[in-house]
Amino acid sequence: MIHYKELGLVNTRELFKKAVSGKYAIPAYNFNNMEQLQAIIQACVETKSPVILQVSSGARKYANQTMLRYMAEGAVRYAEELGYPIPIVLHLDHGDTFDLCKSCVETGFSSIMIDGSSHPYDENVKLTKQVVDFCHQYDVTVEGELGVLAGVEDEVQSEVHTYTQPADVEDFVKRTGVDSLAISIGTSHGAYKFKPGQKVEIRLDILAEIEDCIPGFPIVLHGSSSVPQSLVQEINKYGGKMKDAVGIPEEQLRRAAESAVCKINIDSDGRLAMTAAIRKVLTEKPDEFDPRKYLGPARDSLKELYKHKVIHVLGSNDKA
Ligand code: G3H
Ligand code: 13P
Ligand code: ZN
Repeated sequence: MIHYKELGLVNTRELFKKAVSGKYAIPAYNFNNMEQLQAIIQACVETKSPVILQVSSGARKYANQTMLRYMAEGAVRYAEELGYPIPIVLHLDHGDTFDLCKSCVETGFSSIMIDGSSHPYDENVKLTKQVVDFCHQYDVTVEGELGVLAGVEDEVQSEVHTYTQPADVEDFVKRTGVDSLAISIGTSHGAYKFKPGQKVEIRLDILAEIEDCIPGFPIVLHGSSSVPQSLVQEINKYGGKMKDAVGIPEEQLRRAAESAVCKINIDSDGRLAMTAAIRKVLTEKPDEFDPRKYLGPARDSLKELYKHKVIHVLGSNDKA
């Protein structure tokens, strides 16, 4: 067992308390490799923002759990070396079983999401409570989820959103003991959240109702990439074929960040930024075969994207 405090990581408790009262949100950026992690740390150190490093179970398989533990510790040391030791959380994104959550706690994660949202309500409560009871013994914080996002979530495909029922949230939070709650209000995973021309509006009215039921309780938004059209155009200009990719307008996320939403999950936008930069280099310099020559620009582009989010969407700059 490696406890996260030995790695210099923190849990989400204090960060969320400050984010709710300060009316901003903490970035939760997914990573799978070194360049993504470097970009996240550089961006958050430069903007003096706390950060949640998210690892999905797919990322854990891709990168290997031992590598991840050292990468997270490396991220803490890297931030110190860059001159500003920001608070860093290592979070399991969409944990789906008790055993996976337990294994992550035992290998240094400081925060766990148990996503029981695809189960019937009572099973979700039971599984979430089991994970909370285990995690709290180690002062690891837990995110639960109520409601189902449209699209693919945990290999569960749903055509439509099942919005979180405000009437359920108080009972869920009380019975499970979770530290934060992910809700479904119209965001969804991936780059194809809406159709072009479709009116894009996340249900800030449902968010407000939820907040009334659990005042000041930390809320999480998944599926919050904005799918910048400049990146989609760049990908398509350099040989990509991403048709009709549309995300959540930044303005709507800014408004959510000013509420009790204190963690906003962004993965797809980072994928777009990296892909656009790599495609550009490989198209303009077809003789290039040194990975540093395309992964370096991809890392720089990611860093700019992450800084932009911190300053213009989440408002977490200067909060570290
Ligand atoms: O919620 C999904 C995240 O974007 C992680 O995606 O499972 O492909 O790593 P992944
Ligand atoms: P996006 O696909 O919108 O980036 O959402 C990521 C996410 O919710 C990770 O849990
Ligand atoms: Zn998610």
